[in-house]
Amino acid sequence: MSKKVTKIGVLTSGGDAPGMNAAIRAVVRTGIYNGLEVYGIMRGYNGMIEDDIFHMDNKSVANIIQRGGTILKTARSKEFMEAAGRQKAYENLRKRGIDGLVVIGGDGSFRGAQRFSNEFDIPCIGLPGTIDKDIAGTDYTIGFDTAVNTAVEAIDKIRDTADAHDRLFVVEVMGRDAGYIALHSGLATGAESVLIPETRTDVEDLISGLTEKEKRKKLVNLVVVAEGDEMGGGSEIGKILKNRLPNMDIRISILGHIQRGGAPSCQDRIIASRMGYHAVESLLSGRHNVMVGIVDDKMHYIPLDTAVKEKQAFTSDWLKIIKILAS
Ligand code: F6P
Repeated sequence: MSKKVTKIGVLTSGGDAPGMNAAIRAVVRTGIYNGLEVYGIMRGYNGMIEDDIFHMDNKSVANIIQRGGTILKTARSKEFMEAAGRQKAYENLRKRGIDGLVVIGGDGSFRGAQRFSNEFDIPCIGLPGTIDKDIAGTDYTIGFDTAVNTAVEAIDKIRDTADAHDRLFVVEVMGRDAGYIALHSGLATGAESVLIPETRTDVEDLISGLTEKEKRKKLVNLVVVAEGDEMGGGSEIGKILKNRLPNMDIRISILGHIQRGGAPSCQDRIIASRMGYHAVESLLSGRHNVMVGIVDDKMHYIPLDTAVKEKQAFTSDWLKIIKILAS
């Protein structure tokens, strides 16, 4: 039987994602509702190491549900990867009596949490907070929906100017090693092609498709490329296309960090709130080292190490749909 938690810490780690604030709010308010003391930890694991930890009350999370970024700030902590850093972090939690942790972040953050709780007896609950959606055991990650909507809005704007000039645009979106932002934004903006790391990019097929469209004077040509595509990102693909299609007027647009900012979408606020609530419930019910996900609209709990080892199931027929609809 696991011991009962009384004081919990919450932190955000890795790349920020819209909706992290809604998750922090849910953790703090659910914790207080259940009689727990809740502590905010600044700048991810760095705050644990540097003892940048403060007591939170209901008011500390007022007026943040609609805000992008994270009030706790975030970092990718190098020191936490070292045993000495984790030891320091543990001492700082111990002296306050913090006996449970909620980590909102992506796979790197979960690896840290897993290691930490294997070494010290502090249960950690992970909430998937990443725009990349590259975590198994959940249909949603906090921030993905907002990032995709931002990408769609930007690509729609690019479509206007592409149309005005009869240009081909290669648009690079984020996602690290995953192609979900590309796949979703590409399908939603009517791209000709979407290039993602999960499938081998067939350049000859791409060129023949674009050549055929050039012949029949198709109005708008958009190619959406995931930054992690194995052929390279937008710049590399753009270079190849410029070389091979000299008659086409080609521009490259890299959307970059705008995809990480902005007010969270309704969906991100809702999943963040549900996950934050269930993170605290998990700690109260004695769950250890699991990630809280949502599958088929139900809460789902998987071990942190499984969440980082596996990827979400990839919807391969989407690429076929994109191709057919762009014809
Ligand atoms: O993991 C989120 C993410 O935005 C990735 O899509 C991207 O590859 C990376 O972070 C960028 O990281 P940084 O903000 O450190 O440049």
